[in-house]
Amino acid sequence: MPLPPLRIGRYEIKYPIIQGGMGVGVSWENLAGNVSKEGGLGVVSSVGTGYRHPNYVKLKDGRPIGSKYIHSKEALQRIIRDAKEIAGGENAVIGVNILYAITDFGRVVRDSVEAGANIIIVGAGLPLTLPKYAPEEHLALVPIVSSARALRVICKHWKKKYNRLPDAVVVEGPKSGGHQGIPYEDCFKPEFQLENLVPEVIKERDKWGDFPVIAAGGIWDKKDIEFYLNLGAAGVQMGTRFVGTYECDASDEFKKVIINAKKEDIILLKSPVGYPARGIVTQLIKDIEEGKAPEVKCVSNCVVPCNHGEEAKKVGFCIADRLGDAYLGRRETGLFFSGSNGYRIKRLVHVKDLMRELVEGIPSGQDLPQE
Ligand SMILES: Cc1cc2nc3c(=O)[nH]c(=O)nc-3n(C[C@H](O)[C@H](O)[C@H](O)COP(=O)(O)O)c2cc1C
Repeated sequence: MPLPPLRIGRYEIKYPIIQGGMGVGVSWENLAGNVSKEGGLGVVSSVGTGYRHPNYVKLKDGRPIGSKYIHSKEALQRIIRDAKEIAGGENAVIGVNILYAITDFGRVVRDSVEAGANIIIVGAGLPLTLPKYAPEEHLALVPIVSSARALRVICKHWKKKYNRLPDAVVVEGPKSGGHQGIPYEDCFKPEFQLENLVPEVIKERDKWGDFPVIAAGGIWDKKDIEFYLNLGAAGVQMGTRFVGTYECDASDEFKKVIINAKKEDIILLKSPVGYPARGIVTQLIKDIEEGKAPEVKCVSNCVVPCNHGEEAKKVGFCIADRLGDAYLGRRETGLFFSGSNGYRIKRLVHVKDLMRELVEGIPSGQDLPQE
C-alpha cells in the first residue's frame, strides 16, 4: 500500500516516517537534514551539542563544562540552521528532540524555537511544562510516552494549565535504542511491548482528540510500518536503521560497532538517568562490570536525575562522557546505543536509498553482508 502523509499540527510530512532524535551526535544536521530532504521528518538531537562545535564552548579535559556548554545554545542553533539548509532551506520542516531530564530544559526549548525548529519532541520524563516554554502557535509539541497512563497525565495537565493538547504523541516500546521509559523487568512483559501499547495509547488519545499516534521501537521495514498503520497509528519513529547510513552524524567507529554487533550483544544497561538504556556490549561494558570504567568526574552536569555525578558513581560510569566518547570515535571508552534490531545492519547505505526501501519496498541492501 502507498504510505499516507503524516500531519503534525500545521506541518504535513510527505511520508509517515520520523527519524528519532539520537544523542550524543548521532542525529545532527547531516542525518536530520537529509531525512527531511527525502520526505521524512528529520529530528536533530539537542543533547551534548558542545561536542559538535567545540570552538563555541569552554572545555575542560576535552569536555564541555557545565550545562551551558554541554547543551550549547550556539552549537544547537547552528545545527538546526544547517539541517534546514540541507533539507532545502528556511521553509524545510525540522524537529528537535529534547530530553525533559536535561539540566536547562526550558532554556534549550527556547534555543530551539529561536533557531527555527518546527516540531519539538520531548522524551525522558513527562514534559508537563513544555507548553510554558513553547507557547507559539506555529510550533507542534510532541511528547514521547511509554504508556497510556503517561499520555493521560500529560493531556490532563496541559489542558487544565495551558488549554493545549499534544500535536502528536510518540509511543515507544522497549525494543528501541537508548533510554527506556519503564523499569528493567517491565521491558520483558507482554503488556509493555509496542504492539500492545499502541492500541492502549490510541484508546486514551480518543478521549482527548484526534492527534496522531506514532509508534516507535523495533520497526524495521515497510511491512512493519504497514502493521502499525493498520493498528491505527498515523506514523512511525525509527532510530537504529538511520545509524546505518553514510549521512548519520555518528563516528565511523560507532557505525563499525553496530555493523559488527551480534544479536546477543544488544542488551539493556543500567544508566545514571535512572531507567535502563539499550546499547551494545563493548569493552566499556565489561570494564563497568569490573569497576574499571573511566572515573566519574561530572564536568558537564548533563542531566538532573544524575545529581552531579552521584548516580553515575552508583552505576559506574558518566553518561555524558561515555556518549561523548562514542561521538569522538573512542571505541574503548564509548557507549554505543542501539535498538534490539541493530545487529541486522550489515552495511551503510544512503538515506535516500533507505527511505526508498521504507516507502516503496525496494531493498537498500543495508541488511546484506559487506562484500
Ligand atoms: C544511538 C541512539 C541514540 C538515541 N538517543 C535518543 C535521544 O537522545 N532522545 C530520545 O528521545 N531518543 C533517543 N533514541 C531513541 C530513538 O529516537 C528512537 O525512538 C528509537 O531508537 C526507535 O527504535 P528503533 O531504534 O528500534 O527504531 C536513541 C536511539 C539510538 C539508537
